[in-house]
Amino acid sequence: MKAMNILVLHGPNLNMLGKREPGHYGSMTLAEIMESMTSLAQSLNIELHSFQSNHEGALVDRIQQAADEPIEGILINPAAFTHTSIAMRDALLATALPFIELHLSNVHQRETFRHHSMLADIASGVIAGFGPCSYLLALRGLNDLLLTKNLHTGVK
Ligand code: DQA
Repeated sequence: MKAMNILVLHGPNLNMLGKREPGHYGSMTLAEIMESMTSLAQSLNIELHSFQSNHEGALVDRIQQAADEPIEGILINPAAFTHTSIAMRDALLATALPFIELHLSNVHQRETFRHHSMLADIASGVIAGFGPCSYLLALRGLNDLLLTKNLHTGVK
């Protein structure tokens, strides 16, 4: 079967994981998280494409670009842009790819400004609060969704 192509998007300040507020985000670096995702992805026959940016426009550009690629779904930790970005919401709507919003921390246990997401109501699912494991859960969830909904072009 053809590999499934999934884009993993990381928002601002996630390049600082490992050093940044370990009480909220743990001690794993982004590279280590991607390593653990890559080994799970291999066992599921998934090819991951990863992109991190601290810039909203760069993330919008990457989402738009996904529409012209064989990307079948998106995993996104939009970080602070979760709570503010109409531009990312519009890009995800325009691209119309299924996506999962994920967070390391349980945003609902934190400041009230983190309780609202600009993306959650248009996401296929939302995962928060499991630390680095949120990424693995989101990958399993999106894989299952694409296979059961027969959205993965390789199984049609
Ligand atoms: C985060 C939660 C956001 O509120 C915050 O701005 C982040 C990380 C998380 O993964 O828990 O940068 O998305």
